[in-house]
Amino acid sequence: MIKKGIILAGGKGTRMSPLTKAVNKQLLPIYDKPLIFYPLSILMLANIKDILIIVNKGQLNQYKKILPNGKNLGIKISYLEQNKPRGLPDAFVIGENFIGKDNVAMILGDNFFYGQNLTSKLLENTKLKKGAKVVLHKVSKPELFGVAKINNNKKIKLIKEKPKKFISDLAITGLYFFDNNVVKFAKKLKPSKRGEVEIVDLLNVYKSKKQLSADIIGRGGAWLDTGSVEDFYKTSSFVSAIENRQGFKIACIEEISLNKNWIKKKQIIDSIKFYGNCEYSNYLKKLIS
Ligand code: TTP
Repeated sequence: MIKKGIILAGGKGTRMSPLTKAVNKQLLPIYDKPLIFYPLSILMLANIKDILIIVNKGQLNQYKKILPNGKNLGIKISYLEQNKPRGLPDAFVIGENFIGKDNVAMILGDNFFYGQNLTSKLLENTKLKKGAKVVLHKVSKPELFGVAKINNNKKIKLIKEKPKKFISDLAITGLYFFDNNVVKFAKKLKPSKRGEVEIVDLLNVYKSKKQLSADIIGRGGAWLDTGSVEDFYKTSSFVSAIENRQGFKIACIEEISLNKNWIKKKQIIDSIKFYGNCEYSNYLKKLIS
């Protein structure tokens, strides 16, 4: 069982400047909560309670204000800084001590997942013992994403970053499951032309060993990434539509902990005090009434 997870929550956020000049993208709102709550909720739904959040140098204090250490959620949150955005596989170099001898999940701080059966899929993926697993989702514009072509056994035959010629419409999402070799492999990667180590190169190491498999989120599930201002609006509208219709919140991290019995009523009351008089607190109050 994978019990450790990394959220990569640094990045320049260039496309969202000037919003991201003073505040990191993952602290900006998707509807009624900071973006970081959404990827955090995904790791929690996967029963991952030991979580490392990697943030930009100098932004640690901002994150700690909203997610201090995980105690109020019955989980453990630790932080490390990335000096500059050296690329996604850098997470495994920075996180080497955190990972230790274990397997690990990684989610990008700006990825949003939602849909029925998502939790059971997540739990299935954490059973990974050897190799690596990516999560794929069909998109209408594959030329904008890293994509994967798979065979009938869901083994990956080809992966390509932003292919000009069509090879597949299955995009590689920002949620990955790796065995412990990931640290060793990530350390050996050389930066690409754009000066970053590339996740596709890391995945290709596994592919060359026939150890890269895929899980597919079907059309009943949603995967949205939030790289631009327009994406933020669209994802916020999606969350607003569902939450207001159902009366359930998406990515209420306290609710997930309570449902999993990781916390009791007392921690919810503490969280209500912490957030203060707001709509989010009203929702928490309803959970324990
Ligand atoms: P990107 O979308 O590649 O970058 P970004 O979010 O900084 O945005 P932009 O392209 O507009 O500059 O990053 C995807 C996610 O991974 C995002 O949540 C930031 C994070 N990230 C890091 O934390 N460190 C890194 O070295 C890189 C490349 C990304």
